[in-house]
Amino acid sequence: MVLPLEPLDELQVQILVDNVADALLPGREGAVIRRPFGPGVENPLLDAPRVASAVVAEHGFACLVTARAGARVHRFLFDAGLSPTALVHNLERLEIDPRDIEAVALSHGHFDHTGGLAGLVERLRGRELPILVHPDAFRQRRSNPPSGRVLPLPPPSRSALEGAGFRLYVDREPHLLFDGMAALTGEVPRVTEFEQGYPYFEYLEGGEWRPEPHLMDDQAVVARVRGLGAVVITGCGHAGAVNIARRALELTGEQQLAGIIGGLHLQPLGFFAIPETVAGLAALEPGLVAAGHCTGFEALRQLADALPEAFVVNAVGTLYRFAAPTD
Ligand SMILES: [Fe+2]
Repeated sequence: MVLPLEPLDELQVQILVDNVADALLPGREGAVIRRPFGPGVENPLLDAPRVASAVVAEHGFACLVTARAGARVHRFLFDAGLSPTALVHNLERLEIDPRDIEAVALSHGHFDHTGGLAGLVERLRGRELPILVHPDAFRQRRSNPPSGRVLPLPPPSRSALEGAGFRLYVDREPHLLFDGMAALTGEVPRVTEFEQGYPYFEYLEGGEWRPEPHLMDDQAVVARVRGLGAVVITGCGHAGAVNIARRALELTGEQQLAGIIGGLHLQPLGFFAIPETVAGLAALEPGLVAAGHCTGFEALRQLADALPEAFVVNAVGTLYRFAAPTD
């Protein structure tokens, strides 16, 4: 299936929440590290009236996507991080007005991607926003590994979202945003043998916990940039990085993967086939691999080795820019 996506003149992806914040990262062409230290906060134990404050990292993911075609520009938030505070703190540090956000799309229902919505609604002061989400994101979930350390994974509350001013668009199919300037992939087919989910995810149905390794709500943002190819942004990558990248090429009809950005979920070790995933991505010859959030150190290391030109560590504050070549 090829979606009627409009080739963009420019796509910008501003990272707002990630597990990493590093003001000393060098950046590279097309990946600028913004270092917003001002205007500063009071700190009585330091010998200055005000001290610079920077962006913060947390376990989670959020980014602001800005798509431009000609004079038309649209902005939407993809995921919201974990805490009610990090997203809005970083928006402020990066001097982004939350009221410029026109819509929200959620990669899946896990709370390290939805928790920041609580802080956002306070800044929106009653403004209504559309929010796109897969129906399974509302399932009650948990991780239940053999160690016995059960981790509840509470979903967003449908009624609370509506009460807070969000207009829900619940869809399991691919969904166009802004007349085709970008899209959400909908469910990602699990075509590779080595990306078959996490065996200890469960969801509650009829009072019983049932296995849910595949987490079918996991979806990515895709867009086309004229002359460059497809860009894909993944929240946690539960569908598998190679499955997601291949789906992005299929839905955009592009041959070239200009970039893959976000969490590739190759933690914990032992469940995810890191060498196969790295080889699968490398075979697609991506222009940029900005792996972050839940990718994990070992996978980051192997990706950096295999794709030294394309790889960057994803970090809060990084602004990725894909601009169509000028003729
Ligand atoms: Fe995540």
